[in-house]
Amino acid sequence: MIRSLIEHRHKHSTRIASGQRMADEFTIFTGRSNPNLAEQIAQALGVRLGACAIESFPDGEVSIRLDEPVRGREVFIVQSTGPPVNEHLVELLAFADACRRASAASITAVVPYFGYARADKREGSRIPVTASMVADLMQVVGINHVLTVDVHAPQLEGFFRVPVDSLTVVPALHNELRNRLSQDTIVVSPDAGRIRMATEYAHLMNTSVVILHKQRESATETEVTHVVGDVCNRSCLIVDDMISTGGTMAESIKALLSAGARPEITVAATHGLLLDGARENLSHKDVREVVVTDTVAIDKDWPQLKVVSAAPLIADAIRQFITDRSVCHLS
Ligand code: R5P
Repeated sequence: MIRSLIEHRHKHSTRIASGQRMADEFTIFTGRSNPNLAEQIAQALGVRLGACAIESFPDGEVSIRLDEPVRGREVFIVQSTGPPVNEHLVELLAFADACRRASAASITAVVPYFGYARADKREGSRIPVTASMVADLMQVVGINHVLTVDVHAPQLEGFFRVPVDSLTVVPALHNELRNRLSQDTIVVSPDAGRIRMATEYAHLMNTSVVILHKQRESATETEVTHVVGDVCNRSCLIVDDMISTGGTMAESIKALLSAGARPEITVAATHGLLLDGARENLSHKDVREVVVTDTVAIDKDWPQLKVVSAAPLIADAIRQFITDRSVCHLS
């Protein structure tokens, strides 16, 4: 009896202590790229967003002021570096600089969509590796941990000397879609870079993967030259890390239908940048639905579009960090 009372008191005090740690020792701030997502993350963790003021001067320079102390605290800055990429990137850097100068104990950049991740190698002579440059900038301003989601190229981690965790929304997107997909659906990787992601979906769906051979003609034009695998009379789920102009998807849809796929196509992508023209590119009569997440702020006013929130996943990861636990099961 005495022992169980002691155990009960111990458990109770541990819970309070961990709750206090959660409330007292970390702060989540948001930049201006996706405040709704940050708000949902904070709500899921039962905290309010940190107070700050962010403004742009008439010439475009950003001005940031933290309106509460961060000395000794674990700080999380939620800021996707989506369009306008350069503005959101500089805002994140300035935010981290403010936190470092205000003596934050640690600074985690929560970058659900990591802009410039596609610039991870030199594709020709006399060009930069911009993703590497971004990694350097982030570390120079004092960011000592990066949390991102379905990063375009996992090797990006190699540009950093600080920990980088890339979570995945594949299980969440699959969960959203599973009841609406036909039994015979095959997963399509729109290029070689997405084979791993397509294989993860296929594993969850107990099906196989078809790979498209894509060649990029320019920033807005791609061409699919080969379909590797049999899509004849099969429903297709095309998966990608991002939909930017929608050009990749439009070409993929065309190639699959020409190769005899059933006119029942579903599209799933983590980052719905949906730039001008993307909706037109995806508004094909044989596309049943397009599912993306809210890693970048998104306008849901489009009947075919379904948006799944990445907030629960990111909140889970932050909960793991602040209690020094692993995030392997979220990656
Ligand atoms: C490229 O390798 C990426 O994974 C995407 O397929 C691509 O960036 C999508 O861009 P867009 O929608 O402009 O074709």
